Amino acid sequence: MEYQEVLENAKKRIGPNCRVCRECNGLACADILPGPGAKKPGNVANDNFEAWRKIKLNMDTLVAKKEIDTSCDFFGRKLAFPLVSGPIGSLAKQFNPDDDIIDFNDQCMAACEHLGLLHFYSSGLEDAAEKDNERLRLKHGNAGIPIINPDDDEDIMRQIDHAKSLKSPLAIGIVVDSAGLPHLNKIHGNSGTKSIEQIQMFKKRAQLPLIIKGIMSATSALKALEAGADAIIVSNHGGRVLSDVPSTAEVLPEIVKAVDKKAKIIVDGGIRNGLDLFKAYALGADLCLICRPVLIAYYGGRQEGIEAYFNKLLAELKDTMYMCGARKIADINRSMVRVPVYNYL
Ligand SMILES: Cc1cc2nc3c(=O)[nH]c(=O)nc-3n(C[C@H](O)[C@H](O)[C@H](O)COP(=O)(O)O)c2cc1C
Repeated sequence: MEYQEVLENAKKRIGPNCRVCRECNGLACADILPGPGAKKPGNVANDNFEAWRKIKLNMDTLVAKKEIDTSCDFFGRKLAFPLVSGPIGSLAKQFNPDDDIIDFNDQCMAACEHLGLLHFYSSGLEDAAEKDNERLRLKHGNAGIPIINPDDDEDIMRQIDHAKSLKSPLAIGIVVDSAGLPHLNKIHGNSGTKSIEQIQMFKKRAQLPLIIKGIMSATSALKALEAGADAIIVSNHGGRVLSDVPSTAEVLPEIVKAVDKKAKIIVDGGIRNGLDLFKAYALGADLCLICRPVLIAYYGGRQEGIEAYFNKLLAELKDTMYMCGARKIADINRSMVRVPVYNYL
């Protein structure tokens, strides 16, 4: 299946909230929530997207021609390239009432298992989802990691126990910035922000590597380390939890510096192609997470559509590595990109 065909199919199926733009840049859906947009006034999804465009690549072809190796390790699992697909809580509430989040997670994990990647799935907004998600992870060779909402403590503990009861995932994630989601508290009464001590309690219960999603400053990153994070996701939730925050590309370098290799760093927000992946690795990210375009690819061709998108990303990443003088992921470094200087004062 060609990627163009995936987009054409998606346009027919995804419903009125998403226009399936030529580039998923957060403009046409700016503040469509529920839906794919961002929290009012709705500027952050586009800010994320634009920030990657402003980073330029330093071409270097005075390097020996050699096979490109994009593989990497993530908590003991070999990935084909440093990418995970992102969690989505509900399709029925965001797109069409009959759409099924379980089928989405099933197709994402199938594609990830087949191509050697990982899908991060949401504990979601639909109670029934929890059991099915864990069953799907087993069906698809453990190619998924649960990302749990900041629900009340007892509920988080129960979800950790449930995830571990079948077969331990590689890691457990908690998405702390979902505290800002307008709809989360309406559905899960006691959800909200979490203290360092609460996160430490979850990690103790899980006895697994812990991923904290929704870190946007060096200060928060240091708190996440203190709370026991083994990986953090630099993310503003695609602009869905607060407007006028910086873009993720902008804060990534200061967070990389603060973390100083004490935890893995994943980044998301407006990453759309293999060139963006390269830029993120050059700024120090270990992995990237992509959400909205994977969702569009699902509507455009389910597993096949998602694989078409992942294969396009991989081809673009390899081409960028080839042209910038990197032959393996570890070769990619800060000298390979030019970054704008951000100064608000
Ligand atoms: C419709 C929709 C639902 C989402 N649901 C969740 C969720 O349940 N849990 C979560 O951690 N992130 C959720 N996210 C945030 C994404 O995982 C990701 O952090 C964000 O969209 C930025 O990546 P992107 O620009 O590639 O979309 C959701 C995003 C969208 C668009």
